[in-house]
Parts: sequence; structure tokens; C-alpha cells
Amino acid sequence: MSTISRIAELRHGRALHTIGSLFTGELEPLGHEPLGVPVLDGGGRREVIVRLSKGLSLPGGMPDVLGIAIKIPGGGADGGDLDLLLSSSGPFRRLPFPLPGFTRGRFSTLMRPRLTAEPLDTGHDDGADPRDLALPLAFVIKRGRTRLALLRVVEPREGEADFDPAVNQHPVLRPRGVLARLRRVAYARSREGRKGLPRASVVDTVRLGAQVLVPTLLQGVILRRRAGSALAGLIDADGRATRLLRRLRAKHGDGPLLVRVPMRGWLLLPLTEADVRRVLNDPAFHPATREKRGALSHFAPEGVLITVDPELRGRRRRFNEQVLATGEPEHPFHARFRRIVAEEIAELPREGTLTWDAFGAAHWRIARRIVLGDAARDDEELTWLLNRLRGDANYSYVRGHRTDVRARFARRLSRHLDRAEDDSLAALVRSTPAAPDVDPDGQVPHWLFAFDAAGIAAYRALALLAGNPEAGAREAVRESVRLWPTTLVILRDSPRGAMVAIHSPYANRIEGDDFQPGSSAGVPFSDGHGRCPGEDLVMLVESMVVEEYLRSRDIEGPDLPVALPGSLDHFTLRFAVRPAER
Ligand code: HEM
Repeated sequence: MSTISRIAELRHGRALHTIGSLFTGELEPLGHEPLGVPVLDGGGRREVIVRLSKGLSLPGGMPDVLGIAIKIPGGGADGGDLDLLLSSSGPFRRLPFPLPGFTRGRFSTLMRPRLTAEPLDTGHDDGADPRDLALPLAFVIKRGRTRLALLRVVEPREGEADFDPAVNQHPVLRPRGVLARLRRVAYARSREGRKGLPRASVVDTVRLGAQVLVPTLLQGVILRRRAGSALAGLIDADGRATRLLRRLRAKHGDGPLLVRVPMRGWLLLPLTEADVRRVLNDPAFHPATREKRGALSHFAPEGVLITVDPELRGRRRRFNEQVLATGEPEHPFHARFRRIVAEEIAELPREGTLTWDAFGAAHWRIARRIVLGDAARDDEELTWLLNRLRGDANYSYVRGHRTDVRARFARRLSRHLDRAEDDSLAALVRSTPAAPDVDPDGQVPHWLFAFDAAGIAAYRALALLAGNPEAGAREAVRESVRLWPTTLVILRDSPRGAMVAIHSPYANRIEGDDFQPGSSAGVPFSDGHGRCPGEDLVMLVESMVVEEYLRSRDIEGPDLPVALPGSLDHFTLRFAVRPAER
């Protein structure tokens, strides 16, 4: 399969014009000499489907080769659809030409017989981002000087539409010439790509719902629930989900697998590590999905992860990277962080039973001190407020915002940030230059939330080391997040609105279920433009936590099989602890 059809397949059908929006439009023939195409010659106003797109998918409002695709139901030769594709074109109408906006130039079918579209002045000056247009827009469709019809783009439209001018055509408008032949080949390839995608049967879809979706939601995507996690541990929910996805790969091939989800449209499940990485590394797949925006807006509405505007997202991303020292194995404040870790871990008993409650509380003290400074050490109310909001976030947009709790949380947080204590991330938040819309303080709730996951990863790493004492702390933390990923599912929106769901427990275990010290398999920290900017900090701090804990203690954990279970409930995980004999 060619690279074009492979990309088209993953993007659910398109290699070019991936950024685009669908609209309902109206086509109204204007009185003219008959052309021989009934829908353009008369018959009154009719509803059409319009897709406005960016040919090169350059981010946001950047000028691009813009596209107008029009689907006229019943306009084709024998009652089928008629698809017309027009591109923004230069002075000669034969070549594509970038435009700064949909109302700022002309469009042409490029091929003979050449139709053109000219925007009518609607009183607003629109840019090049089809997701951000003031409606209605109107265009006059012409052939030469003859005004054929008026096209009005009326309102956004849900769902999907396939445009294929090589198939959906009318003999009078059948494109001719070299370009038309090339386009016919390209569309045939793209069709072939889509046809090649395996589709989950209804039975498989129900299984996916029951064995993957429901257990993931029950565990709590943003804040783990005790009961849901206990149940998951008991029935090995993530292991079952992983085995189901493996069976589906054996049955359908390498995928990605298309699953029809009621009310949401097509869902794509990548089944190979190469496809997982391809999606994560392609900027056309956006991380700010509706579900994620719904969830994170409860406590981090200005966070980079749910920032939709690509330009602002880029600047927020850079800010996060600067403060978290992404790409640097040692954060500039590492010496201070080591002291904090040593002090807090020293508070944990050297003998008896280690429970998550004790470990988790110590870890929250570490997180508050690293992020906000020593004065935040005992601010358990801040964590409690954050966790209430995270509890709501588990329900995404289905649950309303608790504005009073959010306001209390924000007030407490900014008091800590205002102190900008030396050698804390808060100091960097205040000293790192950033435009106001980056909202430096607004990035911090995500960090606090994500430190919870880091603590869980460190705690499970102890379970790996209990059975493999010769392994290193860092290796154990990395394997902990691979084998028991704290982000259960990584969502992306494909350019055409299909959702891509990367099931992390499955994706991370493609290389195996056993402890593999030194492995860099899987995508526990995601990959590409949305890769976790906190990865280096997490690896640094959590390796310190594990090392520090085991410096003066020997531990005994559960007897885990070589093929490790898919779910390891940290809430009920316990260790017998005694002073080290070394
Ligand atoms: C075990 C610990 C952690 C793991 C496994 C982890 C993993 C991930 C993953 C998989 C993503 C991508 C999420 C998505 O696309 O939906 C992500 C994003 C992110 N993580 Fe982490 N993370 C961890 C801890 C942290 C910490 C401690 C911080 C900050 C101090 C942090 C900051 C972020 C930010 C800001 C993003 C959004 C990045 C973007 O949208 O470009 N993470 N993380």
C-alpha cells in the first residue's frame, strides 16, 4: 500500500485537505443559457453539503491552498451525487494558489471544463481556518462569464461526507486533461485505502464497549476511584481489554480498526505500534478532543492539553517545557528536589506495612513542595479541592462545573504561586517570560494532577523491584508506566472529526507482558507534539523516590507472575517492610 493511501487511511480517507469542516449549504441556479446539467440549470434552491478545507493543513489561520467541495445530491448523471471540487487559484485559474482567507480570492476546478467560484461580499472578512468562519458565506459559481448558481454556506454540519469527483460526476462536467487523469488515480488509491480498513462487527463493537470502554470509565480516567480500581484489579480488567484487542488484531489484521460508536461516529483503533506513533506524530491529529476538553475544563481550562488554537497551544507548550525543563535529564532544581524527597520518605516507617494511603500522602507532600514550595507542604485542602474537581472531570462534559470549588482552588493556588518560593516550580512560573494569554498560572493545575499519576507509578515500581531487586529504580519506574499506564487512553481527533483512541495498556504491551528492564517500548508518555513535557521531571523525581525508599528498607510485595497482570490496583497494593540488612 502506498504511503499516500496509508496516511489517507489513518486520517480516515484523506492525505491532503485534512483540516476541514463540513457545512450545510444551499445551491440556487441563476437564470442562464442551459448547460445540460439540470441541477445547475433550474429547479430552484436545493440543499447541498459543503466542505471547506486547507489543502496543506497548515495550522490555524495561516494562508493555504483552500478548498471548496460541494456535494449536490441527485445532481449526477443517473440520479447519483454530483461532487464539485474547487481550489483557490492564481491569476490563470489553472494552478492552485494560496489564499489568506475564504473571502479573499477566487476558486477554480483547475480542470476543463473550468468552473469558478467567487465570494460575495457578506460584510465580514474571513480567514483561512474553516473551523473559524463567520456564516453565512456566499459564492457565485461561474463558467467563463456565465453566472451559473449561487452557493450559500449556511451552518456547520455534524458527520462525515466522502467527495469523489472521479465517481460522482455528470458527463457535461466530466473533468478532462492530464490533471484529471492524475486526480482519478489519486482518488482510486484513497478509496482503496478506506476499503482496506477492517471494521468491527456489531458483536465486536459490543465487546469493545463492555470490556474496554466500561472498565476504563469505571476506574476513573482523571481521578482513580477506589471501588472501580479494586474491581479492575480483581478481574484483571486491563488485561482482558488487552487480550480482546489482540484477538481483534489476529482476526482483522493490523488495522487500524474502524468502530462505529453511536452518537460519535467512527472511532479508529490503531493496533500496531507504528500506527500508534504515526497518529501521535502527525500534527493533523489534535489532542484537544471534545471528551478531553469536557474533562480537563473542570480544573485546568487553560491547560495546554485542551488548547484548541494551534498557535496558542504552541506557546503554552513552550512555557510548559521551559518550566519543567523538558529534554533535560536533570531539572535545574534537582538538588533541592532530592532533599525534599529524602525528607518526606524519611517520614515513612522503616518497619511494618506500607500502604498506598501512607505512600500517597507522602507523595502529595513531595509534589506540593516541588511545585509550590515548602509552605504548601501541609496544604491538604488544596489537594482535596483539586480532587473534587478531578472527580467531576471523570464525567467529562456530562457533569456541570462546580464554580465555587474551582474559585476556592484557584484562590489557594495563586496564594502559593504569589510567594514564588526559591527553587520551586512556582518561582519559574513567575520568572519565565510569557504573554498573558499563555496563562502561566493556568498551567499549574495539570502538573499537580499529573503528579498523582507519578506517585502511583513509583508505588507500582516498588512491586516490580520487590520481585527483581537487582533492577534499577529508573528502569522500574519506566516499566511501571509501560505495564500499568496511568493514562489509560490517549485520544486524538482526526482532521475529519473521527476519534482515534489509543488504548495504552494494549499499545504498551505489544512488545510483551513481562518486566523488561531498559525497554523503551510503548507510549506511556505519549509521543510527538503532545508528548508529556513532564517526562524527564517524572523520571528524575520518581527514581529518587524509589531509590530513597529502598535505601534503608527491604520490602516484600505480592507474588507477581512473569506475564504481569494488566491491572495492578495501587489502592490495595501492600508491602511488608523491614530495615535493610545491607
Ligand atoms: C507517571 C507520570 C506521568 C505520565 C505517565 C504522563 C503521561 C502523559 C501522557 C500520556 C500525556 C498525553 C496525554 C494526551 O495526549 O491525552 C501527557 C501530557 C502532559 N503531561 Fe504528563 N504524564 C505524567 C506526569 C506528568 C507530570 C508530573 C507533569 C507536570 C509536572 C506532566 C505534564 C503534562 C502536560 C503539561 C501534558 C500536556 C502536553 C501537551 O498537550 O502538549 N505530566 N502526559
